[in-house]
Amino acid sequence: MRTPLCDAFGIDYPIFAFTPSEHVAAAVSRAGGLGVLGCVRFNDTDELDRTLTWMDENTDGKPYGVDVVMPMKIPTEGTSTDLSSYIPEEHKKFVDETLLKLGVPPLPEGEGREGVLGWLHSMARSHVDVALQHRPVLIANALGTPPNDVIEECHAAGLKVAALAGAPSHAQSHVANGVDIIVAQGYEAGGHTGEIASMVLTPDIVDAVGPDVPVLGAGGIGSGRQIAASLALGAHGVWTGSIWLGTEEYRNLSSNKGWETAFLRASSSDTVRTRIYTGKPARLLKTKWTEAWAEEGAPAPLPMPLQNLLVADAHNRINASGDPDVISMPIGQIVGRMNEVRPVAEVMADLIAEFEATVKNLNGIAGF
Ligand SMILES: Cc1cc2nc3c(=O)[nH]c(=O)nc-3n(C[C@H](O)[C@H](O)[C@H](O)COP(=O)(O)O)c2cc1C
Repeated sequence: MRTPLCDAFGIDYPIFAFTPSEHVAAAVSRAGGLGVLGCVRFNDTDELDRTLTWMDENTDGKPYGVDVVMPMKIPTEGTSTDLSSYIPEEHKKFVDETLLKLGVPPLPEGEGREGVLGWLHSMARSHVDVALQHRPVLIANALGTPPNDVIEECHAAGLKVAALAGAPSHAQSHVANGVDIIVAQGYEAGGHTGEIASMVLTPDIVDAVGPDVPVLGAGGIGSGRQIAASLALGAHGVWTGSIWLGTEEYRNLSSNKGWETAFLRASSSDTVRTRIYTGKPARLLKTKWTEAWAEEGAPAPLPMPLQNLLVADAHNRINASGDPDVISMPIGQIVGRMNEVRPVAEVMADLIAEFEATVKNLNGIAGF
């Protein structure tokens, strides 16, 4: 499975793993892929600093990356408290009534009130500043091209910059602004995603950016066959997200049994692409919570970052309740294949073994 990205990053396999868990990211890097730690959950930069110190010490000297969320065209400053004054009463009422209807109990007084500030440029910039004090080899941005000065700062520090793209024109604009690697994020993907499926998007982006820009196929990749397909479509590697939620290491971050029950029983049709998580279209597990927002009379989701501030407390309450019928979680269509929880090293070994068997099989078919 070696591609030029393996040499560029000093990794054994071009398997990039986005995950909010440092335990998963470190385990992927130790297993020869590139673990990429999602920073959006860190409201406290000291906590991110401590976490990256842990990554430095627990990756056996192997490379890792970090992922920030720098959306374009949203307020650059602010706190959850002052931004919440922009949230209409109608929306707050709908959330309160829906939680009541779904039987989600309140949290104990004083717990879980703050929204995720990582969606703000100001916070994402401090994530980059903290990351540059450590030894990541890659900075990825989820939403749009990172600002030029951030790209220059990362390049000066010897890091590569990646950005997610859901359409060929987005990929071209990333490259024109200095992004090194494009993550072609297909419709099937968990989290923010566009309208074009991986089978069409990956070759379109590969052709749009030309042979000098490496592309990672993303969205719907959870097996060695899917990795082989992505490389066949012209990708130099794959960027995966959902499958790592089904690992033992992920339990360090989420002790929520409801989560596991919810995704282990879900089929590939049990997801929905909706703006209710952040204000931008993102693929989530379909539950009573997502269904409530789709009912007639439900308010339209607010723009980013207001929607996430609106539902942050609701997410805390839903997660604390652990009810698998209500849970709110980003996950891709690959969820239908996530039927057991395993150690990261085992998932990696299976991806590699199935990839090798697939290529052998294809060679057999082609030679027949
Ligand atoms: C729980 C979850 C959270 C995510 N959060 C982010 C994020 O903060 N930043 C980002 O760049 N991508 C995020 N993504 C998208 C992943 O980086 C990745 O592109 C996607 O999961 C690939 O598709 P797959 O889910 O089919 O593997 C998230 C995905 C999931 C499942």
